[in-house]
Amino acid sequence: MNIAFLASHGGSNMQAIIDAVKNGQLKANPVVVISNNSESKALQRAKSEGIPHYHLSAKTHSNPERLEQAILDVLTDHQTDLVILAGYMKKISKRVLDVFQGKILNIHPALLPKFGGQGMYGSRVHEAVLAAGEKESGVTVHLVDEHYDHGATLAQRKVPVLDGDTADTLAERVLKEEHKIYAETIGKIIAGEIKL
Ligand code: GAR
Repeated sequence: MNIAFLASHGGSNMQAIIDAVKNGQLKANPVVVISNNSESKALQRAKSEGIPHYHLSAKTHSNPERLEQAILDVLTDHQTDLVILAGYMKKISKRVLDVFQGKILNIHPALLPKFGGQGMYGSRVHEAVLAAGEKESGVTVHLVDEHYDHGATLAQRKVPVLDGDTADTLAERVLKEEHKIYAETIGKIIAGEIKL
């Protein structure tokens, strides 16, 4: 299973999956990393792991159609089987979806369908959970479709909200669970326990 990553920032979810491959927990082959952010830690991580990596954004391709074609070309050139969004803050285009629909996964730091949608990422999600007075939050791994945070749920895990939580403390607790559930879910896909 050749897996490709799209990531915009820290890439800690990507790293957790790469680590699971390295320690033999996950039988997959990380083939390429794409980021829309040339300064992202995700690209630095790819470099240190020796994984081919590309910065593709409006800065490298001012024409949106050419940008989407370039992303698609990189994915297909590396014989990608599964696309893993790991904190990727851009919408997946129709051009990419037409080829990879049903094979693109995303992770979201809340119990979707709650606290998802456009603009709901990172600490904004956790702030919204706290403002709503929720007693639990969690993690969702889902298939990607043309809407933000919307496709079929593949895995979900609850994480408690504790008295005195800030967005940062809640994010940290949720992220720990993200790092486990993403690799586990990919493992279940590879084992045929989750059918895409
Ligand atoms: C993660 O918490 C991920 O769930 C979230 O961005 C963070 C990326 O962290 N994604 C979303 O909010 C998507 N709507 P990372 O770059 O360290 O993996």
